[in-house]
Amino acid sequence: MSFREYMELALYHPQWGYYTRGAGIGREGDFYTSPHVHPIFGWTLARYALPLLEETLQRQDWAVVLELGPGEGYLARDALDYWRQEAPEVHRRIRYLLYERSPEMIRRQQALLADHPAGWIQRFEEARGAALVWSNEFYDAFPCYRFRRSEDGWQELRVVLAESDRLDFRAFPVEDPDLLRFLARYEPLTEPGQVLEVAPEVAAVHRRLLDTVWPRRVVTVDYGEMRSVLLQRFPRGSLAVYYRHRYLENPFQYPGESDLTWHLDFTLLKEAGAEAGYRTVRFEDQGRFLISAGILEVLQNIERREPDERQRLRARLAVKTLVYSFGKEHRVLVQEPGS
Ligand SMILES: C[S@@+](CC[C@H](N)C(=O)[O-])C[C@H]1O[C@@H](n2cnc3c(N)ncnc32)[C@H](O)[C@@H]1O
Repeated sequence: MSFREYMELALYHPQWGYYTRGAGIGREGDFYTSPHVHPIFGWTLARYALPLLEETLQRQDWAVVLELGPGEGYLARDALDYWRQEAPEVHRRIRYLLYERSPEMIRRQQALLADHPAGWIQRFEEARGAALVWSNEFYDAFPCYRFRRSEDGWQELRVVLAESDRLDFRAFPVEDPDLLRFLARYEPLTEPGQVLEVAPEVAAVHRRLLDTVWPRRVVTVDYGEMRSVLLQRFPRGSLAVYYRHRYLENPFQYPGESDLTWHLDFTLLKEAGAEAGYRTVRFEDQGRFLISAGILEVLQNIERREPDERQRLRARLAVKTLVYSFGKEHRVLVQEPGS
Protein backbone atom coordinates (compact mmCIF):
# COMPACT_ATOMS: atom_id res chain seq x y z
CA MET A 1 0.00 0.00 0.00
CA SER A 2 1.08 3.60 -0.34
CA PHE A 3 2.42 5.29 2.80
CA ARG A 4 -0.57 7.61 2.49
CA GLU A 5 -2.93 4.64 2.99
CA TYR A 6 -0.82 3.35 5.88
CA MET A 7 -0.86 6.77 7.58
CA GLU A 8 -4.61 7.10 7.00
CA LEU A 9 -5.14 3.78 8.82
CA ALA A 10 -2.61 4.51 11.57
CA LEU A 11 -4.11 7.93 12.37
CA TYR A 12 -7.78 7.70 11.36
CA HIS A 13 -8.86 4.02 11.25
CA PRO A 14 -12.46 4.06 12.63
CA GLN A 15 -11.50 1.87 15.59
CA TRP A 16 -7.73 1.81 15.99
CA GLY A 17 -6.58 5.13 14.51
CA TYR A 18 -4.44 7.38 16.70
CA TYR A 19 -6.76 10.40 16.35
CA THR A 20 -9.93 8.25 16.41
CA ARG A 21 -8.94 6.89 19.79
CA GLY A 22 -8.16 10.41 21.02
CA ALA A 23 -4.60 11.49 20.33
CA GLY A 24 -2.20 11.89 23.21
CA ILE A 25 -1.44 15.60 23.10
CA GLY A 26 0.11 17.11 26.24
CA ARG A 27 2.12 15.99 29.27
CA GLU A 28 0.53 12.51 29.56
CA GLY A 29 0.56 11.91 25.81
CA ASP A 30 3.02 11.70 22.96
CA PHE A 31 3.71 15.27 21.94
CA TYR A 32 2.97 18.90 22.84
CA THR A 33 1.45 21.51 20.60
CA SER A 34 1.57 25.27 21.25
CA PRO A 35 -2.00 25.50 22.68
CA HIS A 36 -0.98 22.83 25.21
CA VAL A 37 2.10 24.71 26.38
CA HIS A 38 0.09 27.55 27.95
CA PRO A 39 -3.11 29.56 27.28
CA ILE A 40 -0.90 32.55 26.45
CA PHE A 41 -0.61 31.12 22.92
CA GLY A 42 -4.39 31.38 22.36
CA TRP A 43 -4.62 34.70 24.22
CA THR A 44 -1.95 36.19 21.95
CA LEU A 45 -3.61 34.92 18.78
CA ALA A 46 -6.91 36.33 20.04
CA ARG A 47 -5.26 39.72 20.71
CA TYR A 48 -3.80 39.70 17.19
CA ALA A 49 -7.24 38.93 15.67
CA LEU A 50 -9.11 41.60 17.63
CA PRO A 51 -8.74 44.57 15.20
CA LEU A 52 -9.93 42.38 12.30
CA LEU A 53 -12.97 41.22 14.30
CA GLU A 54 -13.81 44.77 15.42
CA GLU A 55 -13.58 46.00 11.87
CA THR A 56 -15.79 43.12 10.65
CA LEU A 57 -18.38 43.92 13.32
CA GLN A 58 -18.64 47.52 12.14
CA ARG A 59 -20.08 46.12 8.91
CA GLN A 60 -22.09 43.11 10.07
CA ASP A 61 -23.84 41.71 13.12
CA TRP A 62 -21.72 38.57 13.51
CA ALA A 63 -18.10 37.68 13.05
CA VAL A 64 -17.40 34.02 12.31
CA VAL A 65 -14.09 32.46 13.33
CA LEU A 66 -13.37 29.00 11.90
CA GLU A 67 -10.72 26.72 13.38
CA LEU A 68 -9.44 23.73 11.40
CA GLY A 69 -8.35 20.56 13.23
CA PRO A 70 -8.77 21.86 16.80
CA GLY A 71 -7.51 18.73 18.63
CA GLU A 72 -8.50 19.06 22.29
CA GLY A 73 -9.98 22.53 21.67
CA TYR A 74 -7.54 24.55 23.83
CA LEU A 75 -6.95 27.30 21.26
CA ALA A 76 -10.73 27.82 20.93
CA ARG A 77 -11.20 27.96 24.70
CA ASP A 78 -8.29 30.35 25.29
CA ALA A 79 -9.20 32.69 22.42
CA LEU A 80 -12.84 32.87 23.52
CA ASP A 81 -11.78 33.47 27.14
CA TYR A 82 -9.53 36.31 26.02
CA TRP A 83 -12.27 38.01 23.97
CA ARG A 84 -14.78 37.57 26.81
CA GLN A 85 -12.37 39.20 29.27
CA GLU A 86 -10.82 41.92 27.10
CA ALA A 87 -13.57 42.71 24.57
CA PRO A 88 -16.98 41.53 25.85
CA GLU A 89 -18.85 43.41 23.09
CA VAL A 90 -16.88 41.51 20.44
CA HIS A 91 -17.21 38.22 22.30
CA ARG A 92 -21.01 38.54 22.36
CA ARG A 93 -21.08 38.73 18.56
CA ILE A 94 -18.59 35.97 17.69
CA ARG A 95 -19.56 32.59 16.32
CA TYR A 96 -16.70 30.19 16.76
CA LEU A 97 -16.88 27.17 14.44
CA LEU A 98 -14.76 24.04 14.65
CA TYR A 99 -13.95 21.71 11.75
CA GLU A 100 -12.72 18.33 12.96
CA ARG A 101 -12.80 14.85 11.44
CA SER A 102 -12.27 12.67 14.52
CA PRO A 103 -15.50 11.95 16.46
CA GLU A 104 -13.52 11.38 19.68
CA MET A 105 -11.77 14.75 19.35
CA ILE A 106 -15.18 16.42 18.69
CA ARG A 107 -16.52 14.80 21.88
CA ARG A 108 -13.59 16.23 23.87
CA GLN A 109 -13.93 19.67 22.26
CA GLN A 110 -17.65 19.73 23.08
CA ALA A 111 -16.95 18.87 26.71
CA LEU A 112 -14.27 21.57 27.01
CA LEU A 113 -16.31 24.25 25.23
CA ALA A 114 -19.71 23.52 26.84
CA ASP A 115 -19.88 27.08 28.25
CA HIS A 116 -18.57 28.84 25.13
CA PRO A 117 -20.35 30.09 21.99
CA ALA A 118 -18.97 27.30 19.77
CA GLY A 119 -20.46 25.20 16.96
CA TRP A 120 -19.20 22.30 14.82
CA ILE A 121 -19.32 22.09 11.05
CA GLN A 122 -18.88 19.21 8.62
CA ARG A 123 -18.61 21.22 5.41
CA PHE A 124 -16.83 24.48 4.59
CA GLU A 125 -20.10 25.85 3.14
CA GLU A 126 -21.39 26.22 6.71
CA ALA A 127 -18.69 28.83 7.44
CA ARG A 128 -19.22 30.98 4.36
CA GLY A 129 -18.09 34.59 4.86
CA ALA A 130 -16.01 33.87 7.99
CA ALA A 131 -13.86 36.79 9.08
CA LEU A 132 -11.00 34.57 10.14
CA VAL A 133 -9.84 30.99 9.57
CA TRP A 134 -6.98 29.66 11.66
CA SER A 135 -5.29 26.39 12.43
CA ASN A 136 -2.36 25.00 14.37
CA GLU A 137 -0.73 21.79 13.14
CA PHE A 138 -3.69 20.91 10.93
CA TYR A 139 -2.13 20.17 7.55
CA ASP A 140 0.82 18.21 8.93
CA ALA A 141 -1.69 15.62 10.20
CA PHE A 142 -2.85 14.84 6.64
CA PRO A 143 -1.76 11.40 5.41
CA CYS A 144 1.19 11.90 3.05
CA TYR A 145 2.88 10.00 0.26
CA ARG A 146 6.59 9.35 0.42
CA PHE A 147 8.63 9.78 -2.77
CA ARG A 148 12.28 9.53 -3.76
CA ARG A 149 13.90 11.09 -6.77
CA SER A 150 16.14 8.56 -8.57
CA GLU A 151 18.35 8.82 -11.65
CA ASP A 152 15.39 7.43 -13.63
CA GLY A 153 12.68 9.69 -12.23
CA TRP A 154 10.33 9.58 -9.25
CA GLN A 155 9.84 6.49 -7.12
CA GLU A 156 7.14 6.01 -4.56
CA LEU A 157 8.27 4.50 -1.24
CA ARG A 158 5.39 2.13 -0.56
CA VAL A 159 4.75 -0.07 2.45
CA VAL A 160 5.40 -3.79 1.99
CA LEU A 161 5.45 -6.85 4.19
CA ALA A 162 9.16 -7.75 4.51
CA GLU A 163 10.76 -10.80 6.15
CA SER A 164 9.52 -11.91 9.58
CA ASP A 165 6.20 -10.14 9.02
CA ARG A 166 7.77 -6.72 9.39
CA LEU A 167 6.51 -3.70 7.50
CA ASP A 168 9.09 -1.79 5.50
CA PHE A 169 9.44 0.69 2.64
CA ARG A 170 10.12 -0.45 -0.93
CA ALA A 171 10.60 1.78 -3.97
CA PHE A 172 8.29 1.48 -7.01
CA PRO A 173 8.30 3.72 -10.09
CA VAL A 174 5.57 6.39 -10.04
CA GLU A 175 3.20 5.80 -12.94
CA ASP A 176 0.04 7.66 -11.90
CA PRO A 177 -0.17 10.68 -14.28
CA ASP A 178 -1.81 12.88 -11.58
CA LEU A 179 1.04 12.21 -9.15
CA LEU A 180 3.65 12.77 -11.86
CA ARG A 181 2.03 16.10 -12.74
CA PHE A 182 2.01 17.05 -9.07
CA LEU A 183 5.67 16.05 -8.61
CA ALA A 184 6.80 18.08 -11.62
CA ARG A 185 6.84 21.20 -9.41
CA TYR A 186 9.60 19.62 -7.26
CA GLU A 187 11.83 18.65 -10.18
CA PRO A 188 13.79 21.89 -10.67
CA LEU A 189 14.66 21.91 -6.95
CA THR A 190 15.66 18.28 -6.37
CA GLU A 191 18.62 16.00 -7.09
CA PRO A 192 18.59 12.19 -7.27
CA GLY A 193 18.41 10.83 -3.71
CA GLN A 194 15.99 13.49 -2.42
CA VAL A 195 13.17 12.05 -0.29
CA LEU A 196 9.95 14.01 -0.03
CA GLU A 197 6.78 13.60 2.02
CA VAL A 198 3.85 15.41 0.54
CA ALA A 199 0.05 15.32 0.57
CA PRO A 200 -1.45 16.72 -2.65
CA GLU A 201 -4.74 16.91 -0.72
CA VAL A 202 -3.34 19.86 1.27
CA ALA A 203 -3.34 22.06 -1.82
CA ALA A 204 -6.83 20.88 -2.83
CA VAL A 205 -8.33 21.42 0.65
CA HIS A 206 -6.76 24.87 1.04
CA ARG A 207 -8.04 25.93 -2.37
CA ARG A 208 -11.55 24.62 -1.59
CA LEU A 209 -11.45 26.40 1.79
CA LEU A 210 -10.61 29.76 0.19
CA ASP A 211 -13.06 29.35 -2.70
CA THR A 212 -15.91 28.26 -0.44
CA VAL A 213 -15.47 30.31 2.72
CA TRP A 214 -13.80 33.38 1.20
CA PRO A 215 -12.43 34.48 4.58
CA ARG A 216 -10.96 37.91 5.23
CA ARG A 217 -7.83 36.36 6.74
CA VAL A 218 -6.31 32.88 7.02
CA VAL A 219 -3.65 32.16 9.63
CA THR A 220 -1.89 28.80 9.25
CA VAL A 221 0.61 27.73 11.91
CA ASP A 222 2.54 24.54 11.24
CA TYR A 223 5.85 22.75 11.03
CA GLY A 224 7.23 23.50 7.61
CA GLU A 225 9.05 25.74 5.18
CA MET A 226 8.62 27.25 1.76
CA ARG A 227 9.50 24.63 -0.87
CA SER A 228 13.13 25.38 -1.68
CA VAL A 229 14.14 25.66 1.99
CA LEU A 230 12.18 22.52 2.88
CA LEU A 231 13.99 20.44 0.27
CA GLN A 232 17.38 21.79 1.31
CA ARG A 233 16.73 21.23 5.00
CA PHE A 234 15.37 17.70 4.59
CA PRO A 235 17.23 15.88 1.79
CA ARG A 236 16.18 12.57 3.41
CA GLY A 237 12.58 13.66 4.07
CA SER A 238 10.97 15.07 7.20
CA LEU A 239 8.81 12.18 8.43
CA ALA A 240 8.71 12.14 12.24
CA VAL A 241 7.19 9.67 14.69
CA TYR A 242 6.33 10.68 18.27
CA TYR A 243 5.61 8.09 20.94
CA ARG A 244 5.37 9.16 24.60
CA HIS A 245 7.54 12.23 23.99
CA ARG A 246 10.20 10.13 22.29
CA TYR A 247 11.20 10.59 18.67
CA LEU A 248 11.22 7.25 16.83
CA GLU A 249 12.82 6.44 13.48
CA ASN A 250 10.44 3.65 12.53
CA PRO A 251 6.87 4.66 11.54
CA PHE A 252 5.78 1.00 11.68
CA GLN A 253 6.63 0.37 15.33
CA TYR A 254 3.48 1.61 17.10
CA PRO A 255 0.69 2.14 14.54
CA GLY A 256 -2.36 3.73 16.17
CA GLU A 257 -0.34 4.57 19.30
CA SER A 258 2.12 7.07 17.90
CA ASP A 259 1.77 10.33 16.03
CA LEU A 260 3.08 10.46 12.48
CA THR A 261 3.90 13.86 11.09
CA TRP A 262 5.94 15.62 8.41
CA HIS A 263 6.98 19.16 7.51
CA LEU A 264 4.57 21.06 5.32
CA ASP A 265 5.48 22.58 1.95
CA PHE A 266 4.03 26.06 2.62
CA THR A 267 4.47 26.94 -1.05
CA LEU A 268 1.47 24.68 -1.76
CA LEU A 269 -0.70 26.97 0.40
CA LYS A 270 0.76 30.07 -1.21
CA GLU A 271 0.05 28.69 -4.71
CA ALA A 272 -3.49 27.65 -3.74
CA GLY A 273 -3.95 31.18 -2.37
CA ALA A 274 -2.72 32.82 -5.57
CA GLU A 275 -5.14 30.67 -7.62
CA ALA A 276 -8.03 31.67 -5.36
CA GLY A 277 -7.16 35.39 -5.34
CA TYR A 278 -5.27 35.55 -2.03
CA ARG A 279 -1.92 37.13 -1.33
CA THR A 280 0.67 36.23 1.30
CA VAL A 281 0.68 39.00 3.88
CA ARG A 282 3.24 37.42 6.21
CA PHE A 283 5.37 34.32 6.39
CA GLU A 284 7.68 34.08 9.38
CA ASP A 285 8.67 31.90 12.28
CA GLN A 286 6.24 31.55 15.16
CA GLY A 287 8.56 33.36 17.56
CA ARG A 288 8.67 36.53 15.49
CA PHE A 289 4.96 36.33 14.82
CA LEU A 290 4.07 36.02 18.51
CA ILE A 291 6.33 38.93 19.47
CA SER A 292 4.71 41.18 16.90
CA ALA A 293 1.26 39.90 17.92
CA GLY A 294 1.98 41.17 21.44
CA ILE A 295 2.88 38.10 23.52
CA LEU A 296 5.13 40.24 25.76
CA GLU A 297 2.28 42.69 26.44
CA VAL A 298 0.00 39.75 27.31
CA LEU A 299 2.74 38.47 29.63
CA GLN A 300 3.01 41.90 31.27
CA ASN A 301 -0.71 41.78 32.02
CA ILE A 302 -0.29 38.38 33.66
CA GLU A 303 2.65 39.71 35.71
CA ARG A 304 0.46 42.61 36.88
CA ARG A 305 -2.74 40.67 37.62
CA GLU A 306 -1.61 37.21 38.73
CA PRO A 307 -0.98 37.01 42.48
CA ASP A 308 0.56 33.51 42.41
CA GLU A 309 4.33 33.67 41.78
CA ARG A 310 4.35 30.08 40.40
CA GLN A 311 1.77 30.99 37.76
CA ARG A 312 3.76 34.06 36.76
CA LEU A 313 6.86 31.90 36.39
CA ARG A 314 4.90 29.32 34.37
CA ALA A 315 3.79 32.05 31.96
CA ARG A 316 7.35 33.39 31.58
CA LEU A 317 8.72 29.91 30.82
CA ALA A 318 5.90 29.29 28.35
CA VAL A 319 6.77 32.47 26.45
CA LYS A 320 10.34 31.24 26.21
CA THR A 321 9.20 27.88 24.80
CA LEU A 322 6.66 29.37 22.40
CA VAL A 323 9.01 32.05 21.09
CA TYR A 324 12.37 30.26 21.13
CA SER A 325 12.01 26.47 20.85
CA PHE A 326 8.59 25.93 19.25
CA GLY A 327 8.96 29.39 17.81
CA LYS A 328 11.98 28.44 15.71
CA GLU A 329 10.44 25.29 14.24
CA HIS A 330 6.91 26.45 13.47
CA ARG A 331 6.01 28.92 10.74
CA VAL A 332 3.03 31.23 10.43
CA LEU A 333 1.49 32.04 7.07
CA VAL A 334 -1.07 34.85 6.85
CA GLN A 335 -3.16 35.19 3.69
CA GLU A 336 -5.73 37.82 2.76
CA PRO A 337 -7.81 38.50 -0.36
CA GLY A 338 -5.94 40.49 -2.98
CA SER A 339 -3.08 40.06 -5.40
C1 LIG B 1 -1.79 17.47 15.23
S1 LIG B 1 -3.47 17.68 15.73
C2 LIG B 1 -3.46 19.38 16.21
C3 LIG B 1 -4.53 19.71 17.19
C4 LIG B 1 -4.60 21.14 17.68
N1 LIG B 1 -4.78 22.08 16.60
C5 LIG B 1 -3.39 21.50 18.50
O1 LIG B 1 -2.59 22.32 18.03
O2 LIG B 1 -3.25 20.97 19.61
C6 LIG B 1 -4.38 17.65 14.20
C7 LIG B 1 -5.88 17.78 14.34
O3 LIG B 1 -6.47 17.91 13.03
C8 LIG B 1 -7.54 16.97 12.90
N2 LIG B 1 -7.64 16.65 11.46
C9 LIG B 1 -6.71 16.07 10.68
N3 LIG B 1 -7.12 15.98 9.41
C10 LIG B 1 -8.34 16.55 9.35
C11 LIG B 1 -9.29 16.78 8.30
N4 LIG B 1 -9.05 16.40 7.05
N5 LIG B 1 -10.43 17.42 8.60
C12 LIG B 1 -10.68 17.84 9.88
N6 LIG B 1 -9.83 17.64 10.92
C13 LIG B 1 -8.67 16.99 10.67
C14 LIG B 1 -7.08 15.80 13.77
O4 LIG B 1 -8.12 14.91 14.11
C15 LIG B 1 -6.55 16.57 14.98
O5 LIG B 1 -7.57 17.02 15.82
